[in-house]
Amino acid sequence: MGIKCLFSVLFSILLFSRADALFGHGLLQCQFTTLDDVVYLEQIFFNKVLQIQYNSTLGKYTGYTDKTRDIANGLNKNPSLLIEEKRHEQNCKKHVPLFFDIFSKPDVHVEPSVRVRSVKTASGHHPRMLICSVHYFYPKSIRVTWLRNGKEMTSDVSSTEKLSNGDWHYQIHSYLEFTPVPGEKITCMVDHGLLMKPKLCDWDPRTESENNKIAVGTAGLLLGLVFCVAGLIYYKRKTYGRELVPVNSI
Ligand SMILES: *[C@@H]1O[C@H](CO)[C@@H](O)[C@H](O)[C@H]1NC(C)=O
Repeated sequence: MGIKCLFSVLFSILLFSRADALFGHGLLQCQFTTLDDVVYLEQIFFNKVLQIQYNSTLGKYTGYTDKTRDIANGLNKNPSLLIEEKRHEQNCKKHVPLFFDIFSKPDVHVEPSVRVRSVKTASGHHPRMLICSVHYFYPKSIRVTWLRNGKEMTSDVSSTEKLSNGDWHYQIHSYLEFTPVPGEKITCMVDHGLLMKPKLCDWDPRTESENNKIAVGTAGLLLGLVFCVAGLIYYKRKTYGRELVPVNSI
């Protein structure tokens, strides 16, 4: 799965015989989806039909016609040629990280972003659940753990799989069911290859109660507005009714 990338070099050969022209072309390719699955390929085609190929995963040449099968067998018996191909493969592997560097920044955030929030649980024996959401990381390998006052917690912890975003990013969500104790510090710790040291994100109940205050404040404001509008309508009706009285009495 994922996007297959390749950088390739194309060369062409044009041969003419009395009967017709023979168009040959060769491809040197460095294929990869991640840093760990790099394949170096050399292919020769005649009139678009693959004749012979070197595949670094197999470490040898393969012929696809009677003639080129013989040629491939001959080439595979030449150790210095195979060593040379190994060198090309190493070169290809060496340049793949450079490719990732150029094309994955700055559009692809590879360092994870971490956020902790809490929700009330409907069931279970703990009243609250903390969610640590980790977004935008690449590569896939990551470790998310919970700390209570700096000590790792292992019980009441669950997690989603590492979910692919469809681009090269991944996300993961870790859950901790717990009973809040005043004064203790709960931290979500994220360890990822691209971080110099683990990223720590503390749960801060104060920010959430402030959010609640804002929510209450907003609700109050809305209620006030509803009363204000209702009052205005009532007032308008009253005055409209009163204006009618003099018109009728004339
Ligand atoms: C190269 O060889 C590997 C291992 O057999 C194979 O999976 C892959 O498809 C080959 N690549 C091509 C382009 O033939």
